[in-house]
Amino acid sequence: MTVASNKPPKPEPCCFVIFGVTGDLTHRLVIPALYNLAESGLLPEQFCIVGIVRKQMSEDDLRQSLMEGLNKHATRAVKQDVAQKVLRCLTCLEADPSDPASFDTLSKAFEKLETEKGTCGNRLFYLAVPPAAFAPITEQLGRVGLLREQHGAWRRLVVEKPFGTDLASAKSLNSKLLKIANEHQIYRIDHYLGKETVQNILVLRFANGMFEPIWNRNHIDHIQITVDEKLSVGHRGSFYDATGALRDMVPNHLFQLLSLVTMEPPRRFEAHAVRSEKAKVLAAIQTQSPEEALRNSVRGQYRAGEVGDEAIGDYRKTPEVKPDSTTETYAALKLTIDNWRWAGVPFYLRTGKALGLKRTEVAIKFKQAPFAMFRSTPVDRLSQNYLVIGIEPAEGITLQFNTKIPGPTISIDGVEMKFRYKDYFNAAPSTGYETLIYDCMIGDNILFQRADGVEAGWQAVQPFLDAWKKAGADGLVSYKAGSEGPAEANELLARDGRHWRKLT
Ligand code: BG6
Repeated sequence: MTVASNKPPKPEPCCFVIFGVTGDLTHRLVIPALYNLAESGLLPEQFCIVGIVRKQMSEDDLRQSLMEGLNKHATRAVKQDVAQKVLRCLTCLEADPSDPASFDTLSKAFEKLETEKGTCGNRLFYLAVPPAAFAPITEQLGRVGLLREQHGAWRRLVVEKPFGTDLASAKSLNSKLLKIANEHQIYRIDHYLGKETVQNILVLRFANGMFEPIWNRNHIDHIQITVDEKLSVGHRGSFYDATGALRDMVPNHLFQLLSLVTMEPPRRFEAHAVRSEKAKVLAAIQTQSPEEALRNSVRGQYRAGEVGDEAIGDYRKTPEVKPDSTTETYAALKLTIDNWRWAGVPFYLRTGKALGLKRTEVAIKFKQAPFAMFRSTPVDRLSQNYLVIGIEPAEGITLQFNTKIPGPTISIDGVEMKFRYKDYFNAAPSTGYETLIYDCMIGDNILFQRADGVEAGWQAVQPFLDAWKKAGADGLVSYKAGSEGPAEANELLARDGRHWRKLT
């Protein structure tokens, strides 16, 4: 993410190496994002894409498959000349982590390729592969020296989500990767940081003079973070049943939102400073005892229902989901942050699948104004003051405040002041991966997770993972697909005299 408002510079020459080039992620997001970068003139002049395949595959077949993926998933009309130019950069090489010798061959092939393509030895290894392959591939790349930075050339490793499945596995993965590469070479992706609306949280907070003075426990009553999805588990039964809503969404996506909203102002707009503040605030999330974790959480599983016009089956009947599964498809948590800015302010987080609405937002609820002055008037209540950061699909910012209804008597109503991105900016539709991929190429890791940030996230959810595992089916509630989620999630706030903001 560059700070300049003029056109960003082209990255240095590089070789973009994709492990998992035949997979869904490459077809759906990586190639469409590279296409968008090419169309915006933001790919390096000397550039090559190396698709790593396990078994010999013809470059033409791979190109055709990627072209089909691009046509299907492109966010803009595909210009054939641009698409062809991108795909002409593709070379196929073979390597398989279960066959270490193949990496020795790969290493030799690189020397030749890089000379031919003039990419100056700069390499970006993109691991679009299942998590079990992150460490074995990195180990092989390290063993044959492909990750060693030398003669002024950079070597970077892009690791997709999920990064670990709990605190212990995240620590172990970090330690394996950090034995081979330095932290500055590792780019841990969380696609939420590719969203403009998420990046804008920093700007909203720190580029405006009016928010920061009131952004604390003296003025904020509580904060709600909602990531509701209409999507059901669909074809991802096997992955999802082993994962659940908490692991899938909270330590990564919801905590990205949480940390941006709660971090202290970084010293500078620079990766080290920003990531340090984010990690610091996540580490300040109060650790809950097993009893507290159960009391401060709700986990639900969807039952058959309709999302819009679509009939959704019972979660437990999803292919590859255990018929007696206790995996949650909905999670709501109450957290607190133990520092001077936030002590005593509750943070309510919720996320779920197969809900009636797709909505991602952060709602900041300010403390109520005293009512005393209006006691002798017809006004019987004041509306609540919310600042709502709409991440998706309503991209924008809304401020809710009270105003006088025109007329001779004093009556008050809550109104909204709305900023919508689309009213001001004409951004070309994107996959959300363009900025992330571009940043990897220019070596800016401000939008990527650092090892300590990832571990602090897992540390905060670990008590919930443990308590839920121990409780098994006890306490697992259900909700109808297409609904707002389980009623118990309302009780989580109701017992504090609060309620979730109504999503519309
Ligand atoms: C992914 C999760 O990381 O994020 C999915 O694995 C989820 O289960 C997706 O659907 C949500 O992303 P977005 O950008 O649609 O909110």
